[in-house]
Order: sequence, then structure tokens, then C-alpha cells
Amino acid sequence: MILELPRRTEHFGAVRFHDVQRVYELDSGTRKFPTRSRDAVATISSQEIDKINEKMAIVIPIKDEKLKLLEGVLSGIPHDCLVIVVSGSQRSPVDRFMMEKQMIKQFNHFVDDEILLIHQQDLGLSEAFKTVGFNSILDKEGIVRSGKAEAMFIGLLLTKMLGKEYVGFVDADNYVPGAVHEYAEIYAAGFILAESPYSMVRVSWVYKPKIVQDKLFFPKFGRVSEISSQHLNRLIESYTGFGTDIIKTGNAGEHAMSMRLAELLPYASGYAVETYEIINALEQFGGVLPCANPQVTAKGVDILQIETRNPHLHEVKGDEHIQDMLQTSLDIIYNSPICTETVKNSILKYFEVTKESSSINKIDPIIKLDFPRFMQIMKEKSQTLTEFRE
Ligand code: GDP
Ligand code: CO
Repeated sequence: MILELPRRTEHFGAVRFHDVQRVYELDSGTRKFPTRSRDAVATISSQEIDKINEKMAIVIPIKDEKLKLLEGVLSGIPHDCLVIVVSGSQRSPVDRFMMEKQMIKQFNHFVDDEILLIHQQDLGLSEAFKTVGFNSILDKEGIVRSGKAEAMFIGLLLTKMLGKEYVGFVDADNYVPGAVHEYAEIYAAGFILAESPYSMVRVSWVYKPKIVQDKLFFPKFGRVSEISSQHLNRLIESYTGFGTDIIKTGNAGEHAMSMRLAELLPYASGYAVETYEIINALEQFGGVLPCANPQVTAKGVDILQIETRNPHLHEVKGDEHIQDMLQTSLDIIYNSPICTETVKNSILKYFEVTKESSSINKIDPIIKLDFPRFMQIMKEKSQTLTEFRE
């Protein structure tokens, strides 16, 4: 892959936001590396990417998506990555989880990938959380809540179980396997470029095509991401005193983290998750509030944003879904202890009802979990954890 080096970096305490990087060429080959533009681009060989892939898990959260889409997504993930599918799909009257399991089994018969599958509402899994006292992911009945963030968190735990260093997230509702492949390569390239072991790579979609009056139109920004990014930028400005547009990926569903960073972050429930990752990094390592982790302060946190070549084509889920996403993303910014009055006032315009306090649940960071004990119980009690290997 040949991609642009970041043109600008904005520092917020120990957090380094790097400007969006363009991909120039998806495959850089092995021999003829560019020489003229050496200082402007990074040329990353397939071998380097392969090395990261072996240490990376790709987590796919899925809830009642079409099987064909999931199969396409699986086909786009590099063979060397571990694949973790965390399903929140319905079990009755139609058992969609069982359908997913059958499809993955058949798929894997031909490719022999390393794939793990689990259902989010697995009673054994919930019991394991309950027994070790990790209640922040459970509902009132003591079962893991539904929600994308909850699925992501389970994916993180399975990534840790298998000792991987990096984790990337890919949605299951993607129509273009080639785009999925590009996301995985972008994650690997980002980790190669990051200087700190605490790093995050967020995908910025080049276009999100849609059909407008019978024609394909290629808008540049998703509506939600544009507004949430805008408010994250206003927040940064209100501390630094300099206007900025550095953040372009406020709601990047497609993103990846080093496990060293992933284990330190709490996660906001549902669709607020991606925005909260940035907010929480600012809270923990931005220097406004006391920093709990001097090791991180010493190394810094790298947040890279890389723009794809492939357009992002996924299931259209309607305006209500978009509105919900926007509300939760803004809510999580509004209710942050570092949110300033100016930013709050600007956010208030978007709320349908006045927000006094947030109702968004948060999942504690992995470092608060008794991991060995949790794993022991989970492996023993889980009814749905399946490992596909011929
Ligand atoms: P958008 O693409 O950001 O508009 O959000 P989607 O609705 O497409 O969700 C992103 C991904 O998360 C998709 O693969 C969904 O199937 C999946 N997802 C959404 N909610 C849940 C959930 O509650 N549990 C699980 N396991 N996956 C979910
Ligand atoms: Co989607």
C-alpha cells in the first residue's frame, strides 16, 4: 500500500490526532518503490502487512443481517487474521444465529480460516460476567445488554484470549468484499506508521454512495459523522484556542486499536461507542483531568485517520436509526466532564429534548475485569462459543 504521510498532527495532552491520509495505491508491489516522493508517502510492503495480520483479530458485530452480506465480509478479510463474529441475532421464531453458524461452517470448509463465533446473549457468558462482578455490561436481568458496543467488547475479550496484539472492527452489512479487504490493509498500515504502542486507526470513507433520483450519487460525508466530528473539533478548539478541523472520523464504525489501548478504554453502549473512544482518550490522556496512567503519557496515543479508495456501501437503515446515532453521539460529548459551555450550547440545538444527564450506559475497561477467572467460567459455561477449524 502506498499512502500519504499525515500532513498535520494536533496535540491534545498526550493524544496525537493525525490528519486524514489518502491511499495512493492499494498494492505497492515488492520491487519498484517510489523514490521521488519518498518524503511525502509511506510505502508499505505486503510482507509488512502480513506480519501485522498474523497479530490481528477482526471483530464482526452482527445483528440480523443478510447472510450473503456476512459471507462477503468474511471473504474480504485476509486469511492470516483471526476472525471473531459476535452475534446479537434473533434465536426465535427463526434462529438466525444457527443460520449464521451453518453458513460460517460451510464457508470455512473451503478456506480453513481461524474463526470464532459467539452469541452475545449466551447465558454462560452472562454468568461469567456476573460471577466476577463485572456488571457494567449486564442488564437488570443479569444478561449481556444488546447493542453494538457490547458485541465489540466481547470481541475484545476473545481477542485477548487468543493473545492478539491488534483488533479491528468491520460491520457485517457491507456489500463490497473489496472494501473490507481494504479496511484490514488500512488497519495494518496504520499500526506500522503509529509510533506509540497505544494507537488507533480510524477509517474515513471516501464516499458513501446512494441513489438520488435514479442516479448514483457519491456524497463525501455521512451526516452523523460530520456533525459529531464538528463538535469534537469545537471541543479541542475551546482548549487550544486555535480553530481546527482535524477530526473527520467521529463515528468511524470501521476502526482498529492496539490491544494495549483497547484494554484501557471504557465503552459507551450502543452507537455512541466510536465517538466516546475519542472523548475518553481525551478525558484520560488529554491533560485536562489528572492522568491515571503515566506510561501512556510517556508514549502518547496515536490516532490515525486513513481515507479509503473503495466507496462504503452498506444496508440502508433509515432516518430513525441515523437520528438515534446522532443523538447518542452528541449526548456522550455533552455529558463529558471536559465538555465546555460553548460546545454544550452548540449541541443543545440538536437535542429534541433538553438533556440534563446522560442515560447512556458505559462498560468498564477490560483492566477492571478479572480476566483469567472470567475466561475459565466462560469457557466452561458458554453454550454458543464455537471455534471453526477444520
Ligand atoms: P451503521 O452502519 O453505523 O449505520 O450501523 P449498523 O446498524 O449497520 O450496525 C453496524 C454493525 O453492528 C452491523 O454489522 C450490525 O449488524 C451490528 N450491530 C448493530 N447492533 C448490534 C447488536 O446489538 N449486537 C450485535 N452483535 N451487532 C449489532
Ligand atoms: Co451499516
